[in-house]
Amino acid sequence: MSNDTAWWRQGRDFSQIPHMVTDSPGPESAKLHGRASKIIKGLSSQVKLHPVCFKEGYGVTLTDVDGNTYIDFSSGIYVTTLGHCHPRISEAVARAAHTLMNCHDFTTPVKTELLEKMVEVLPNGLNGVQLYDSGTTAVEAAIRAARAYTGKQEFLGFMMDFHGKSGHSVSVAKMNSTNGAGRAQGFYMLPKPYPYRPLFKRVDGAVDTDAFIDYYEYFLENATTNQVAALIAEPIQGWGGSVIPPDDFYPKLKAFCERHKILLIADEVLTSMGRTGKYLCMEHWGVTPDIVTIGKGFGNGFPVTAMVAKEEIKESFEKISASTSYGGNPMACAAALASIQVIEEERLLENAMRLGEFFARRMAKMKAEHKIIGDVRVKGCLLGIELVKNLETKEPFDEAGKRVYRKAFKKGLAWIPAGHILRLSPPIIMDEEIASKGMDIVDEAIFETERELGY
Ligand SMILES: Cc1ncc(COP(=O)(O)O)c(C=O)c1O
Repeated sequence: MSNDTAWWRQGRDFSQIPHMVTDSPGPESAKLHGRASKIIKGLSSQVKLHPVCFKEGYGVTLTDVDGNTYIDFSSGIYVTTLGHCHPRISEAVARAAHTLMNCHDFTTPVKTELLEKMVEVLPNGLNGVQLYDSGTTAVEAAIRAARAYTGKQEFLGFMMDFHGKSGHSVSVAKMNSTNGAGRAQGFYMLPKPYPYRPLFKRVDGAVDTDAFIDYYEYFLENATTNQVAALIAEPIQGWGGSVIPPDDFYPKLKAFCERHKILLIADEVLTSMGRTGKYLCMEHWGVTPDIVTIGKGFGNGFPVTAMVAKEEIKESFEKISASTSYGGNPMACAAALASIQVIEEERLLENAMRLGEFFARRMAKMKAEHKIIGDVRVKGCLLGIELVKNLETKEPFDEAGKRVYRKAFKKGLAWIPAGHILRLSPPIIMDEEIASKGMDIVDEAIFETERELGY
């Protein structure tokens, strides 16, 4: 169903969208990217694979410099959860930019209002906040706060998770971006349940979450020095491929942490603020983390992130010199406050859940129809489709992933994947009509790829 009253539909004819007037990337994209890429290095594989240049975004669409308009299944990179340039959010940032841009971490009216709003919407006593300007900085702060609170030094992380690209955030993750520098001392990695590829499984083939917890017990006893301050987890991996653990995993993990007086840090930089249909993804499993990091959709494009902790832990922020130059500046606070107000007023958590149900039905149908789809995963508007060469062997199919990515882009879908897992992150303001058009493009791109590769 389309919602003709939605702000992003006003005055626009969506029967013509996507609207492609040149090949993608087109000639203007090629020129601009050619100039920029002589100077900027270290671009992501998504950009290298399909170097398009965007000039504007509005609601659920992006337009490139050649005039091609795409349906947006990326939200930037899981960032513009409420669509591009929501007038309410853009106006709030512009007002702040005309009034006061920075006053270090002095209190401002908009900051006070944001802090109180956060405490109101976040679950169960998460009432200590510090504000930052990137997910990585918030994760680093959470690590320092956990050390300050517990007086312990070691950390547990999960092998498939991602937490940023700085020293400690890399050390609690899979990401191999230390360029040989290795993992910081006292940071240990654990395996995490991956239902499609279970490491520990029961006789019926399903993930054995008890076996995972037993292994963590064994590991703690025998591999650490029993000085573990916290375990940090991405509730659902974004970069790891939208992998969703079984429903009983996080309650068992929380109990494990409590048994050993280990803090549970949920890194919700990617999964929070509506992406999965809740303010915190952990709410799906009734688990309240001790510390949580939030970001991306928090400012809907404006760089603002936060570390949030429970009452008893928040005083430890005093011990870690927690403030930064940009954290909590008035523009950032205005963006984050307006974003929460938009989520509430437009009932977007409910919309994200409704869309999730639609995507689940559509992706189950696709899985049944395609020979290279091994698994599909959905939580709200966080989606993954895993491509494999063979449904029995489950061998990852990177070449197919690249082809599907480029083909869909050329048909008018701006999105994220680069490897064998198609990662989709549509804005939660979308309606079923546009969501369906986007999925049609993915579907067609997979069919064409299968034909080309002889399936
Ligand atoms: C779960 C998670 N944590 C931390 C980060 C790092 O955030 P940033 O890129 O804003 O530093 C990311 C970024 O993708 C993320 O997905």
